[in-house]
Parts: sequence; C-alpha cells; structure tokens
Amino acid sequence: SYVDITKQSPEYKKAKSLVDSLLPPSLDESDPSLLRATSFVFASAISRAFKCKDIKHGDYQCNAAMPLFQKLKALGQLPPGVNSPVGMAEAIVAAIPNDNPILDQLTVNGPGFIMGRIKASYLSRWVNDLLLHGSPHKPKLSTPAGTVVVDFSSPNIAKEMHVGHLRSTIIGESVCRILEYVGHDVRRVNHVGDWGTQFGMLIQYLKEEYPDFSGNVPNITDLTEFYKNAKQRFDESPEFKKISQLNVVQLQAGDRECREIWQVLCDVSRKEFEKVYNRLDITVQECGESFYNDKIPPVIEEFEQRGLISVEEGGAKCVFVPKFKVPLMLQKSDGGYGYDSTDMAAIKYRLTEVKASHIVYITDFTQGDHFQMVFAAAKKIGWVTDESHRLDHIGFGTVQGEDGKRFKTRSGDTVRLVDLLDEAVARMETSLKERSNIPPEEIHATASAMGYGAVKYFDLRRNPTSNYIFSYDRMLDTKGNTAIYLLYAHARLESIVTKGKAEHGVDVDSLLKEGKAKITLSHKSERNLGLHLQFFADSIEETLKDLLPYHICDFVYALSIAASEFVTQCKVLGSPEMESRLLLCRATAITMRQCFDLLGIRHVTRI
Ligand code: ARG
Repeated sequence: SYVDITKQSPEYKKAKSLVDSLLPPSLDESDPSLLRATSFVFASAISRAFKCKDIKHGDYQCNAAMPLFQKLKALGQLPPGVNSPVGMAEAIVAAIPNDNPILDQLTVNGPGFIMGRIKASYLSRWVNDLLLHGSPHKPKLSTPAGTVVVDFSSPNIAKEMHVGHLRSTIIGESVCRILEYVGHDVRRVNHVGDWGTQFGMLIQYLKEEYPDFSGNVPNITDLTEFYKNAKQRFDESPEFKKISQLNVVQLQAGDRECREIWQVLCDVSRKEFEKVYNRLDITVQECGESFYNDKIPPVIEEFEQRGLISVEEGGAKCVFVPKFKVPLMLQKSDGGYGYDSTDMAAIKYRLTEVKASHIVYITDFTQGDHFQMVFAAAKKIGWVTDESHRLDHIGFGTVQGEDGKRFKTRSGDTVRLVDLLDEAVARMETSLKERSNIPPEEIHATASAMGYGAVKYFDLRRNPTSNYIFSYDRMLDTKGNTAIYLLYAHARLESIVTKGKAEHGVDVDSLLKEGKAKITLSHKSERNLGLHLQFFADSIEETLKDLLPYHICDFVYALSIAASEFVTQCKVLGSPEMESRLLLCRATAITMRQCFDLLGIRHVTRI
C-alpha cells in the first residue's frame, strides 16, 4: 500500500531501487559491533513502518526521519497522520518493538533525530562473554584477510636515523599489529636507503682512511661524523668527487671491493638501528633499496614495451601519470637508477612475488606526491586497479622542538634517537623514585615500559598529518591523554582486583576459571563503562579504514575515563555488588591491555 504508482513509472523504479538498496540487514548474533546492532533496530523498524528506509547512523541516533519525510512527501506517499519530520520520527519510534534486545529509551529530538540507548542487558551479555574468553571481541572483517606489505621505518644507511624515522617506526609497528590482530598476513618491510649516491664518497673516504680495511675491519662508531668528513672532502676535492662518482657505478655493477666496504658501512648502521628497534619492541625485516637493483631493468623494459616511456632531453627515461606535471624518472640521463626506479621495481615485486593485496607506505608527508605517482604508474601499466588492490601512503608531519622549529639539540645537531629514548626513561625513573613505592630493582624495567610507551603514545594519539611539538613534560604527564595516565589507570584497576582477593576473598581469576562471569550493569556509570567496553570493535573497524591508530588511542582514553568515573561513583570493595564490579574492573583492564598491545605499548601491573 505504500507505493501506489504503476510499476513502469520512473517514480516507481526510483522508489523500488531506494527500497532495494536499503534492505534491512539481519542481526548477526556473533557480531560485536554496536553500530550495526543499532542500525539493525532502526532499519527493521523503518522498513516495517514504511517498507522503505534511508538511515544514517551517527552516535546511535537515527537521522532517517527528515530525508524520508521529504522523499515521501515528494512522492505524495506520506503515511496517514504524518505531516512533519518529527511526526515521521515518532512514527518510526512507535514501530520499534519494546522487547527488541538492543535499544530502549527512544526519544525524538530537535527536527526529528531519534536517539536510543543500548540496553544494559545487551551490554552485559557482551561483557560476560569478553570475560569468559579473556579478550575483547574482534570486529568482523568486511574484506577477506590477505597479505599486506607495510613499508615503514626505512632509515638511510650512514645517515642519522632521525625523529621522522622514529614516527614512521612507531606508527608502522602499530599499523602492523592492528592488521595482524584482525587476521592479515603482514609483511613488515624495512626499505632502508642502502643504495644511494652517498655511497660513492663514503666508500672512497673509507678506502683512503682505512687502507687495510679488508683484513682489519674498521670500528666506526660514529657514522654521522664519518659521513660529515666524507662530505667535506667531497665538497673540497674535485678529484675525490670524481672517484666517488665512479665508485657508485662500480658498486652498482657489483665490484667486489666496493661491495665489501658497502657491507661494512651497512653493518655499522644496522647496529645503530637495532638499538632503537630493541628498545621499542619493533619487528621489521630489512629489504632495502639494493635488493631491487637487478629488478629495475626488466621493469623499465616493460614500460618501454607498453610505450609508456618518454625520453627526456639528455636521455632520462620518464613516465608521466595523470594529474602530475613532473614525471617519475625510471632512469637518469647518466644511466643510473634513483628513488623512483627502486620504488617501481619494489611495488612490482610486492604485487607479483609477495602477492600483496594491500601495500602501506609510511613516511613523512612530503613524499606524498612521490607515492601517488608510483601508485598511478602501477595503475597505468595495469599491475593494479582500484578494485584489485589497496595502496596507501600514510604521511606524517614534522616533529618540532618546544620553540616550534625543527627538533634539534641545544647545540643545533639532530637529536640521536637513542639519546631521546634514554632521556624519556631517565626522566621516568626520577619521577618513579619520587612518587612510587615499587621495589628499586623493578624501577628500571617499569620506567622503560612507561618512558617508551609515553613517546609512542604521544605520537600515535594524534592524526599523523599534524606537526607536533616534542615535549617530555607533556608526554610524561600523569594527567591527560598520555600513556602514563593510562598505565596508571590500568594498574589501579588491577590493584582493586588484587585487593578484592587479598582483603575480601573474592578471587576474580578462579571465578573466571570456573566460568562464573556474571556481571550486572545497574548503576549509570556501570552501564556507561559497559557501553565503552563494547565500543572496542567499532574503534578497530574505524582504524582499519584509514589505518590511523589514533582511533584506538581515543577509544582507550575514553574507556579509562569511563572506568575512573565508575570507580569513583560506585563502591567496589566491600559492596554487595563486589563480585560483579571486580569483574567489570577486570574486563576493562583486559580491554586496555589489548589496546596497549595494538599500540606497541608494554603495560605494567605495579607502579
Ligand atoms: N628511506 C626513505 C627516507 O628516509 C624512506 C623510504 C620509504 N619507503 C619507500 N619505499 N620509498 O625518507
């Protein structure tokens, strides 16, 4: 009775396709997403009322009434008695059965927004289930799991690993953990810059300074110093410059001596990188630029055969892609290969050999155009389509010192990452010695977990495109959105659980072992905490869309605020609801630990 027009008319077809495109989803009992559960309630109500729905779901509100009113009005099909968007909203609410398991307290606000609350019984069912499984519910993947290459960290040999690389390392590790968590086969790739023209002068400098390098491997500890000296000679001596350039050609052609020296230099850098990776629990496999050396010529040939190469004046081989004025340069005029050449060979290798269905590159934002061009060229030659693969570049902003300028030491040098990390830990140690009563032998390990966690979280909690000001004081603050605050909040919850056992004889662990996880969410702040716990799955799903871990930071911060409201407003220890409330503390701690783990942060139980 709702669309009273002939089946052939365009109005009918329009209305029919509207209905078809919005068929009500069915409720999947094993789906932890509150967003979809809420949509289900609204969608079925709307489809029942009007067999037609147009829902947009925000924060568990339904905005369908307004557009629906307009559409039906235009079609002359308003339901009887409905003459305003508010009336439409009320009609929708009336069609939602009271005994639906998910929503109650439905109200109509403003011009026709429908708001609803998730029922405490629906939430407690999920929390109980979380406790029994010992982990929060993973979101259901909308796309099948596949192989994902994450290209991150990627410092340059012989050059300092700077704060930019630190950002890439921290964000990359978290992105990998998140993708692994939902079931992808993740390849963590360290695309180190081990093949640039800088090697010419470094090799020459080493040859001159350490003539007996072969039998007596030089112990270069300060490669930055070495680099500086080599550069100085390069700039001062035309002769040195000439031989250096020759070395590059020889190295790339496989000359034994050059390769040997190159290896020595790479090993020195590698050791420095490892120090940072070890401190930060980073796992990444090195597969640097040099790996693609022999894979570049066939790629250039493929582009040539497809007629996609334009030869510039001077002989450089270039590929133009839509929307960009400057081309990618696959071969320089002197015959050498550069950054573009390597990345085209690398993307081909990752697509065809690694069989990645998704590739993620994480670098500073200034390389954004480079990657867009690489992606466009891969499309142009037909290696990928928008549908076949997902290609992402995550570009992050600059790290600034407290003076708002590029982050430097007082003397103006770039900050050594190892020093930066050590400083964070040292400050944390001082503060722990002052304010905590953990045994002295635990202080270093605790301070390390907290210090490194603080540096990571300070980076992860923001949208990476923003520049940020590096501040120890702010990242180590015990209040506000910091890892320190969160680690304290987590430890506090676990200490309540410990006291429950020690002082009141309620042992959460044995309750769980016996499968006796039965919580009730009666107080307002209990229900609110249960609601926040269940936001976990949606926050992961949100993160999978843009691969930005700050969604998880926002989530865990909001969760810990809900938890602190709960423990201030509800008496836990010694209350009649003690058992349920201790379990709720544990459920929150479990969820927080899962988030820490996804962010690459180690938790501590005792602070
Ligand atoms: N080595 C480069 C740098 O330090 C980052 C490499 C990123 N990955 C890539 N496939 N281009 O900026």
